[in-house]
Amino acid sequence: MNSIEIAYNNSKTEYLISDAELFLQNLETKYDRLVLIVDSNIENMYNSIISKYLYISIIATEVNKSQETINRIYSFCLHHHVNKSDIIIGIGGGITTDITGFAASSFKRGIDFGFIPTTLLAMVDASIGGKNGINYDGYKNMIGSVNQPKFICSDILFLKTLPHSEVINGYAEIIKSAAIADSLLTEELFRKQYFDLSYIILKVANIKISIVSKDEKEQGLRKVLNFGHTLAHSIEKEYLYPHGVAVAMGMIVAIQLSFKYGYLSFNKSNHLIKLIYSYFDFASYPICINDVVDAIRFDKKRNGDSIDFVLLQDLGTPLIKKIPINILMENLYDICVTR
Ligand code: GLY
Repeated sequence: MNSIEIAYNNSKTEYLISDAELFLQNLETKYDRLVLIVDSNIENMYNSIISKYLYISIIATEVNKSQETINRIYSFCLHHHVNKSDIIIGIGGGITTDITGFAASSFKRGIDFGFIPTTLLAMVDASIGGKNGINYDGYKNMIGSVNQPKFICSDILFLKTLPHSEVINGYAEIIKSAAIADSLLTEELFRKQYFDLSYIILKVANIKISIVSKDEKEQGLRKVLNFGHTLAHSIEKEYLYPHGVAVAMGMIVAIQLSFKYGYLSFNKSNHLIKLIYSYFDFASYPICINDVVDAIRFDKKRNGDSIDFVLLQDLGTPLIKKIPINILMENLYDICVTR
């Protein structure tokens, strides 16, 4: 079993790669009851494991990442007298883990919770970091809390039934982590050499863990994890394209800007952009510049006529820079024509 322990200011989280069924069995000795919040797809596919426990299933869509779903979970917990001697466990992708973390953090002012992420994206990114929450009035993750799970248990068995398009989504975060923190991993991904997925997941999880544990509340350092995401959030809001596709587009613009500002050499920026294109086909994801720019204008991270953007000073070395919106617009035009 591969495992890392993460220490934050006020809490500790264990991240491990393990057999989820066995892990749940062991957890039964530590808590009165395990209360599962399960993505409905996982409920159907892994019913023999899920049905051993008290559980509620949710349809994990962005629309359902809402106060209504949180209220359903509160009612379920109240009805079953869930209390502090129980643990709430989210089993699913990032939507499920975000909802679970927020519901568990607020119910009775906080019940222990943990995650079993079942998508590659959730294993390497969405389940890690302690930001939990829901969407509000069309804005993603507007309401929420920062509170760390007791554990994150990734079981790669779940990836066997994950659609290929979902696996590719996870690769956007893997490429992002390599770009901001591990140039060797960039090369490994480029060569698409055979690698052990557990090893890659642990390596990428560790990158996020080490950044977040130094800046849990996003005062500074943690912002580098937004590489490719500032633009991605606007693209996702406008088009509901898969997260990974939006992040990949956002990274391309960020890399181009890193080159234009004189940080990243032509060869290195080209190399990274080629890496992204080798994993992503953008042909079925057209974007209209004006719509995306309108969404950026309303971005909560915007600061006057410019926006904080994560660029690369070098491969594996990020930096945060204020980019005027008009410069951003020119680069959005670039990604449309190079596609
Ligand atoms: N839950 C995702 C994060 O904290 O970044």
